Amino acid sequence: MQDTKRLMKLGLFLMSPGHHAAAWRHPEVQAEHLLDINFYKQLAQTAERGKLDMIFLADGLALWDKYGSGVSHSITTRFEPLTLLSVLSTTTNLIGLAATVSSTYSEPYNVARSFASLDHLSGGRAAWNVVTSISEEEALNFNREGQLEHDNRYERAGEFVEVVTGLWDGWEDDAIVLDKDSGQVAHADKVHALNHKGKYFSVRGPLNISRPPQGRPVIIQAGASEAGRELAAQSAEVVFAASKDLATAQSFYTDMKERASKHGRAPEDLVILPGIYPIVGRTKEEAEAKARLLDDGIHPEGGLHLLSHFLDYDLSGYDVDGPLPALPDVEEVNGGKSRYQLIRGIAEREGLTIKQLYRRFAAARGHQQIVGTAEEIADHLEEWFIQKGADGFNVMPPYLPGGLDDFVELVIPELQRRGLFRLEYEGRTLREHLGLKRPVNRYEQLRS
Ligand SMILES: Cc1cc2nc3c(=O)[nH]c(=O)nc-3n(C[C@H](O)[C@H](O)[C@H](O)COP(=O)(O)O)c2cc1C
Repeated sequence: MQDTKRLMKLGLFLMSPGHHAAAWRHPEVQAEHLLDINFYKQLAQTAERGKLDMIFLADGLALWDKYGSGVSHSITTRFEPLTLLSVLSTTTNLIGLAATVSSTYSEPYNVARSFASLDHLSGGRAAWNVVTSISEEEALNFNREGQLEHDNRYERAGEFVEVVTGLWDGWEDDAIVLDKDSGQVAHADKVHALNHKGKYFSVRGPLNISRPPQGRPVIIQAGASEAGRELAAQSAEVVFAASKDLATAQSFYTDMKERASKHGRAPEDLVILPGIYPIVGRTKEEAEAKARLLDDGIHPEGGLHLLSHFLDYDLSGYDVDGPLPALPDVEEVNGGKSRYQLIRGIAEREGLTIKQLYRRFAAARGHQQIVGTAEEIADHLEEWFIQKGADGFNVMPPYLPGGLDDFVELVIPELQRRGLFRLEYEGRTLREHLGLKRPVNRYEQLRS
């Protein structure tokens, strides 16, 4: 029996046809499979064969058409995450299924209900990545003229999560009776209205679906600004991060565990998973050639606009062979703050031109890139894991299915050989894979 506490957690950050902005131009990628369910079924089965903890789907609520190249040169057609994961819940058995849903453009009742449904459908494998959303375009699709202020989005998110978890607790575990003899379906005294009235939400409850198998689906958070870290420390169980080097990862890791402990939580209640973008080769040269092939596919206008999008600053018209222009201070930014700082930091530290920066950014969007053999990639992951920069990683294959196949066939066995990753799933739910406790129902706690 393996000691699960000492094992890495690994998620598949599934972005089709891969994380590299030019993945779809890779000769082995069949880009026409973007909306083909069989393609996703196959990827999910590969990830499950690799014993990964979960599949994670990101999401945005607008087409990237602020810049012309958004439609002409980038992949903007994709499935809505919960719909896709509902199907994958029926074609996989053990792997966790994590979907991104925005707290800014949803209502807590709908979100609590959808994730309770996915948790029941999958036998306890659902997770919700709570995002506050970052672009003005998203606001325009939801009856608004512009985004809420950054900190208000997080304040709303805090209350949103409180309502959702309250709704999940609304049914006690043994509320359902289904006694055919007496005709009793449920214990009415074990189904509770929430009667929440707060600044942003007024929700009576109870939910019209019983308590999810995990008690509560796992909560993930990925914002790393001050407000984002506080929300994560208070209510998230998994934190996704983008860290540029081990020192930054370690400082984020320590900070998050300390913040969690201020909220009365144990270090293992919060699992920290930085993103990594691995390009695996049988030799270092082969891996480097794979990276070059992808980079050569970057469309100059598409690359520039992708960077402009994440900086929320139009870089058209600047000399791409020169440095970034003077950009606003982070305090003035109302989009995502931590990624903005990360990109600027990389550009300044390494003295990159705009072109070098967008080429770098088009690959992994600021996450760690590791180009090398399976052993070299395992060395890197082991170092971050052992040196407390991470509890595991959110793996971002550069192109699909090849990048995932390489990771599962070459890197996973190397991690297993080193005793760093599970040989078999030992539990059935995502909470069990991640070593997270099943939350006690608040009403049952009151009774005891
Ligand atoms: C790995 C990772 C995945 C993310 N996925 C999404 C996503 O799918 N949709 C989204 O709107 N934001 C996503 N974000 C952004 C954040 O969750 C957050 O809402 C945003 O960065 C603003 O946070 P900040 O200002 O605290 O940095 C992601 C961030 C990271 C690091």
